[in-house]
Amino acid sequence: MYPERFERTVFTEEEIARRVWELGACITADLGGESGGTVTLVGMLKGSFIFLADLIRAIDLDLRVDFMAISSYQQAGASSSGVRIVKDLSESVYGRDVLIVEDIIDTGLTLSYILRNLRERGPRQIRVCTLLDRKARRIAPLHIDYSGFEVGEEYLVGYGLDHLQRWRNLRYICSISGDVPGS
Ligand code: PRP
Repeated sequence: MYPERFERTVFTEEEIARRVWELGACITADLGGESGGTVTLVGMLKGSFIFLADLIRAIDLDLRVDFMAISSYQQAGASSSGVRIVKDLSESVYGRDVLIVEDIIDTGLTLSYILRNLRERGPRQIRVCTLLDRKARRIAPLHIDYSGFEVGEEYLVGYGLDHLQRWRNLRYICSISGDVPGS
């Protein structure tokens, strides 16, 4: 299946799978020694759900999974946006090692908000894992602990990423014609 405005395959199913296993191995090695089995992976809905499903099976640790969903809206001025939590965590992360899992980090405004919000809940530490990093569009400076691939300004769909809620179910990631979301 290909989207109508398909341009090119950016990452194949095999490339994604290989990278997810590499990320899982790194996370296992890093957090295994230090966390003592208190890791909570926080998937940011909706885009991260497919990546998260594969990533947790590549991590050999005793972990828990939780989810958050936010909605964002543009405020006056190009570099500001408002963010509101529409689905919060179902369990406390106090004293826990938290790994935020994103499909893509773009401006970084969403993640900055989430980091500020979660830090107030007293976790032992927070790390960030994203499958895709669109550094060129970053507005909020961020430290990303685990990054799958750096991507450019193409509009990407598949493997959880959507265009108007479609194409999340593609096994690969491809570019489609049109502007980058939010541009
Ligand atoms: C995407 C992605 C991040 C956010 C990153 O979500 O999952 O949450 O955008 O953008 P930013 O770095 O510019 O803040 P999106 O709003 O597309 O919603 P979705 O996850 O439901 O697809």
